[in-house]
Amino acid sequence: MSGGFDLVRPLPGAGFGGILRLQDAAGAAAMVAAAERAPEDLPRALAACGGVLLLPGMQAMAERPELLLRLSRLFGPEVENYRETGMAPNMVHPEVPEIFVVSNIPPVLRAPPPLPEPPLTAEGRLPVQYPHRRGWHTDQSYRRPPPDVSLFLGVEPVPQGQGQTLFADATAAYAALPEATKRRIEGLEGLHVGSSAKRRRQDVLAGETPRPLRPHERPQRQPVVRLHPVTGRPALYLCEYGQMDWLEGPFLGLEPGPTGEGAALLDELMAHVTRPEFVYVHEWTPGDLVIWDNRCTLHAATWFDAERLRRVMWRTTVSGNPGPAYAGEARSWLAVA
Ligand SMILES: [Fe+2]
Repeated sequence: MSGGFDLVRPLPGAGFGGILRLQDAAGAAAMVAAAERAPEDLPRALAACGGVLLLPGMQAMAERPELLLRLSRLFGPEVENYRETGMAPNMVHPEVPEIFVVSNIPPVLRAPPPLPEPPLTAEGRLPVQYPHRRGWHTDQSYRRPPPDVSLFLGVEPVPQGQGQTLFADATAAYAALPEATKRRIEGLEGLHVGSSAKRRRQDVLAGETPRPLRPHERPQRQPVVRLHPVTGRPALYLCEYGQMDWLEGPFLGLEPGPTGEGAALLDELMAHVTRPEFVYVHEWTPGDLVIWDNRCTLHAATWFDAERLRRVMWRTTVSGNPGPAYAGEARSWLAVA
């Protein structure tokens, strides 16, 4: 790389991802300045690593949030302004509306995911594989076009051993599918929808009455196999319980509903993509910035003890290069005034 960066890959214990540092300096201000001098380097490193990049030592961004915003802009033409896209105001950074705050303390008060049942695997490990581990998704897949890249800063992460973020390499997972499965999912589309639409698997199983959806909330189809617009490589593009439409989906053209043929295929694919060999477990250190590509990875949050611990994380979302399949499309997710 031209900008004086040092890239170590893969991430520890994983088959993909990388850690990026500056060779001659430390800290967020130096990193952002160097990244802006060589604006191709970080996006290229992200692509070369299969879609997950860790930048340690970025804690100065917590005092200077504009540094996070400047770094985000290198990953695409549009950084989402959450004040303009209908996010609840308590979840948006008060001064920087491009920052979405994920926190268990007021005013955000977001609860952590539940513990898996049982909490550990038979081997005493952190469960990562679906369906033991739940919550796997790719950000905002209920939008067309969907976003490209998310940046997640550990402002105040919880101590290691809980509150991890899990990542799955959907490119490697696709490549490892049996040929018959690849043929079966060729051209297949999933139907994605936000969890507030009450079309989650658990909602449909519980017999909840679906509410009428406004145009910008409607389920959106997405290719199950997505060609990455930068690398050209195919990757599985899926979510599970909370972000697929379990009334009309999860797949177009297959028997719908939470117990049908489509459900069986989704369970099979989700269990495959989250096999431990495709997963990286990120244990947070304050100041870690983890950047992921939603076009070729899935992720999931894990439980932490929200009664005793504070957790404050900041996220930005970058879009603008979803690939030719979305060319020229209006944004499905903007409410028409
Ligand atoms: Fe997410």
